[in-house]
Amino acid sequence: MDKVTVLFTPENIAIQVAPGTSLLQAANLAGINLVSSCGGDGTCGRCLVKVQDGHVRVSESGNLSARAKQAGLVLACQAFADSNVVVNIPSMSRLAEHQVLLDENQLMEEDIETEEGFSFLPLCRTIELTLSPPNLAENVADWERLQIALRSAMNCSDIRISLPVLSRLPEVLRADDWRVTVIVTQINDCAEVVDIAAGHVQKNLKNYGLAIDIGTTTVAVSLIDLVSGLPVGNKGTYNRQASFGDDVISRIIHASEGKNGLAELQSAIVNTINDLVTELLELSHIETNEVRIVTVAGNTAMTHLFLGLSPKYIRLEPYIPLAAATPAVKACELGLKINPAAYVVCFPSVASYVGGDIVSGLLVANLAKEERITLFIDIGTNGEMVLGNRDWLVTAACSAGPAFEGGGITHGMRAMKGAIDNIAIDPATFDVEVTTIGRCRAQGICGSGLINCLATLRAVGIIDRAGKLQTDLPTPRLRQGDDGWEFVLVYGKDTAHGRDIVITENDLKNLLRAKAAVYAGIRSMLHAVQLTEDMIDCVLIAGGFGNYLNIRDAVTIGLLPDLPAERYKFIGNSSLKGARIALISQEAWQEAQILGSKMTYLELSAGNEFMDEFMSALFLPHTDMTRFPSVTNLK
Ligand code: FES
Repeated sequence: MDKVTVLFTPENIAIQVAPGTSLLQAANLAGINLVSSCGGDGTCGRCLVKVQDGHVRVSESGNLSARAKQAGLVLACQAFADSNVVVNIPSMSRLAEHQVLLDENQLMEEDIETEEGFSFLPLCRTIELTLSPPNLAENVADWERLQIALRSAMNCSDIRISLPVLSRLPEVLRADDWRVTVIVTQINDCAEVVDIAAGHVQKNLKNYGLAIDIGTTTVAVSLIDLVSGLPVGNKGTYNRQASFGDDVISRIIHASEGKNGLAELQSAIVNTINDLVTELLELSHIETNEVRIVTVAGNTAMTHLFLGLSPKYIRLEPYIPLAAATPAVKACELGLKINPAAYVVCFPSVASYVGGDIVSGLLVANLAKEERITLFIDIGTNGEMVLGNRDWLVTAACSAGPAFEGGGITHGMRAMKGAIDNIAIDPATFDVEVTTIGRCRAQGICGSGLINCLATLRAVGIIDRAGKLQTDLPTPRLRQGDDGWEFVLVYGKDTAHGRDIVITENDLKNLLRAKAAVYAGIRSMLHAVQLTEDMIDCVLIAGGFGNYLNIRDAVTIGLLPDLPAERYKFIGNSSLKGARIALISQEAWQEAQILGSKMTYLELSAGNEFMDEFMSALFLPHTDMTRFPSVTNLK
């Protein structure tokens, strides 16, 4: 048999594949995105599907729980279609729409000109010019004549022009008596005329730009009117690369080892962006050709994958990226569905695990101008952090693992509809009440919910300082499960899927490791510059996770330093916001280049400091309780 047909239900999407293709690959080819945290290694147990008809060959090696097996489920990545099959995909296995932080309506003019203090001068702008006409005595050529006029209108000496625009120049210049409107893209010290029209028609010549935040989990796009500087619209969704693994490392492995891995990951992110952009343009009735510049902020691996650059050496000691600052490229080179000649610029990275998203975030934090000692922190699979002020900046990244994004936790999930975000436990009866995102039946528990859960379990004495469940407490919620002791948060009768949602001792261990890594990273940075926690004037928490985080909980479990609440501030999706600011401010874009080169990167895996701090932080909140004076009154 040359090909077999896999029919996916309930969509009834059929795809023909070579015999032996995994159901996960077949789903990807059919455009159905499954949760596949381990990237198809068979270890995460997330890509569950049910074979309704036909036969599949199932590998014995996958991590399939006894319960899932009993329910007739198989792991899509470990099941191979040898004949025609019908496969049902349950909702829990789908990559659903994520809550994406867009900071809607947060970029008004005052953001540009006052709050961050950057002047309004977009990377791509329209300029109206009146050229002096040539005569027999003054016979400078058309293009050189335009250059002279442009040089006096803008602060740039290196001005270029594309051949298609150059070829139109003679007629356009003469059509309205040497009055023209030009669209010029300027990136650092180099400018290019990308379009020209006869007459002073700035108002008619549409000019838009895109600011893009490429997160490992989600992607957010802002469409900006570059004439007014105001946002036209924002859209966000999950990063389709998630079909190849949840975290950066599994994607780097896929890009480095698979035959077409790099191309698959690049086209996954380009398709994700194209869909968002198409939707935005359609909604706002804007032509693709009117989008002429793009700024992109992403972590180092995401930037590499977006540009189709190999991220292979990012994960291999001594962890060297292919490039920290990447060249501007044209949209057509990447396959973006906008003006093919539009320039796409990515924020520079600092190191393999401190990327352009952090540099972009620092624009919002205004660290280049800040006198106070500030800790900027973005917690995800990696905890990325920057400490300093306008005079000095150190940065580091620690591997927190996927726990705060719901990975490696029995009922962990991303912050989306149905995720438990808050837990209350009656200290006398141990009855539990939960709230969920979207206020619907619980599906699982997200990162901020897990932190709240850890703090609450500790507060009522269900776990001890080492995160061990106190199994002698009089409640049926404490019981032996498939993976040892567990505590039932929500019984199946109240969940969306009918199964109990529990937190196991193993989950608690993973959470302790994640929080210890972040705190140890902060301590190691402080130690490197010989400062103490109380000398931090301000803590800025960036990113989607930070947006839902309860600071009190984070301090209670020893994730963040025990500082007064007023020193903490959430700044939302600073990566996207920084990309918007750079799009409309030459000054901000240049500042980002300086910030990228100015930061001193601290490699936490070199030396013992981090490991010592990590070991001491594996308790709630810490082995040294004097560091957490406000938490010492716990049971
Ligand atoms: Fe299949 Fe992880 S077990 S993707």
